[in-house]
Amino acid sequence: MNVLVIAVHPHMEQSRINKRWLEELKQHRTVTIHDLYAAYPDERIDVGQEQARLEACDRIVLQFPFYWYSSPPLLKKWLDDVLTYGWAYGSSGDKLHGKQFALAVSTGSPEEAYQAGGRNQFSMSELLKPFQATSNLIGTVFIPPFVLHGIHALSEEELSLNAKRYADYVLQPM
Ligand SMILES: Cc1cc2nc3c(=O)[nH]c(=O)nc-3n(C[C@H](O)[C@H](O)[C@H](O)COP(=O)(O)O)c2cc1C
Repeated sequence: MNVLVIAVHPHMEQSRINKRWLEELKQHRTVTIHDLYAAYPDERIDVGQEQARLEACDRIVLQFPFYWYSSPPLLKKWLDDVLTYGWAYGSSGDKLHGKQFALAVSTGSPEEAYQAGGRNQFSMSELLKPFQATSNLIGTVFIPPFVLHGIHALSEEELSLNAKRYADYVLQPM
């Protein structure tokens, strides 16, 4: 199984969670990590290369910190540029059909904020629906996201444990 992790963080060097997650994944040879901001500092995405990468994998994992209830902007641009008509969707757009589509998201707010009546009012399941709808349109199988909440209260031990759980999630059997 080939797993492609698209990591999207505009300040990866200052990151605590996403950086730690990638360090853990680097110990696993079957995982390909693609750091979008590092690959495209000018944000000019090589669509052909991205599509080839996607075609070669069985599972796509989009990893990012939650920014304004969504992803950092380069991931939106990547979706706009790479998932083209006739390739990813449309009558002949079947290149990603049957692959798995996963999300790994870190949030500043704690878990209890993400529910009806909580600080953010909505659940992560509701807020991540645009990604699920995208997965639906491109014919991939959406698997339940991996979410780490309330990163500020997390100890080093908890983060280490979480990073191991993340690697298990990324490498779970298909
Ligand atoms: C521009 C910006 C927007 C953010 N928006 C949210 C948000 O909507 N919900 C939330 O829970 N946290 C939000 N945060 C907090 C980040 O999700 C949090 O700092 C990040 O997940 C931590 O991961 P890292 O250590 O890899 O940077 C935001 C942070 C920034 C800088």
